[in-house]
Amino acid sequence: MRHYALIGQPVSHSKSPQMHVSAYKELGLKANYTAYDVSETDLSTVINRMRNGEIDGMNVTIPHKVAIINYLDAIDNDARIIGAVNTVVRKENQLIGFNTDAPGFIQSLKQAKNGAPFQKKKALVLGAGGAARAIIYAMSEEGVQVTLTNRTMSKATALANDFSQYGIIVQDLSMTEERLGDYDIVVNTTSVGMYPHVDELPLKLENLSPDALVCDLIYNPMETAILKEAKKRGNPILNGLGMFVNQAAFSIRHWTGLMPNSSLMAEAVKKEFL
Ligand code: ATR
Repeated sequence: MRHYALIGQPVSHSKSPQMHVSAYKELGLKANYTAYDVSETDLSTVINRMRNGEIDGMNVTIPHKVAIINYLDAIDNDARIIGAVNTVVRKENQLIGFNTDAPGFIQSLKQAKNGAPFQKKKALVLGAGGAARAIIYAMSEEGVQVTLTNRTMSKATALANDFSQYGIIVQDLSMTEERLGDYDIVVNTTSVGMYPHVDELPLKLENLSPDALVCDLIYNPMETAILKEAKKRGNPILNGLGMFVNQAAFSIRHWTGLMPNSSLMAEAVKKEFL
């Protein structure tokens, strides 16, 4: 029996256990997945449980994705550049950190675009927190030109400087609303619209291009106010469920070498919202 775990705070409402268990069942793996509410002071204890073999693989969520790096033996290149780890793998007694949020998002974007290339496309990213870092890195690596906007402009500027190799454009919110027609992809990485504040919009969509794909990393609710508004205008939309499922599928592949069926995992999550 393999023991996988999620650590974060809070984790009691997480849908990850049900999603992982459905994947293990489909793959025929004898494994379980437990969500542990862990404070920063308990990180070393839980890491030791992985070193001594009690836990075989770990997902890390808010607020520990950055702090966990200090407890690991190595991290892969993507996780190093993003500055956050969400997956820990034990290889020959070494604990190695990966970031599967970035490839998880790109995979869901590719699914939404039906494989149409998005190199040289223009994307607008809303928000300059931890989630934005993974999205900016992932899209820039795919050749997308990213413009960044945020309520607090100094944070957007600092983030763009961290990724200066990609030439990220920083623009204030009102200018962005005016020039919204320039973008092929709009991604909300802020918490605006998350349950229970479901009616809040992170920006006005009046000038949205009619073909633009509007994405939200949020999946509770499945359709945030920005996605509802975009849909009403006839735009294609993408919620955060695909990214959530794909990051988990890539974690499972890191731990087991097996790639689970992401559609079945998405169904398992949706069932939890019924
Ligand atoms: P995460 O790791 O999920 O990205 P975070 O680091 O706390 O979380 O970042 C939250 C993001 O949502 C930030 O960009 C934040 O804007 P500020 O940098 O101005 O704080 C944004 N955000 C949160 N609540 C917001 C609100 N009510 N209006 C606009 N932006 C908001």
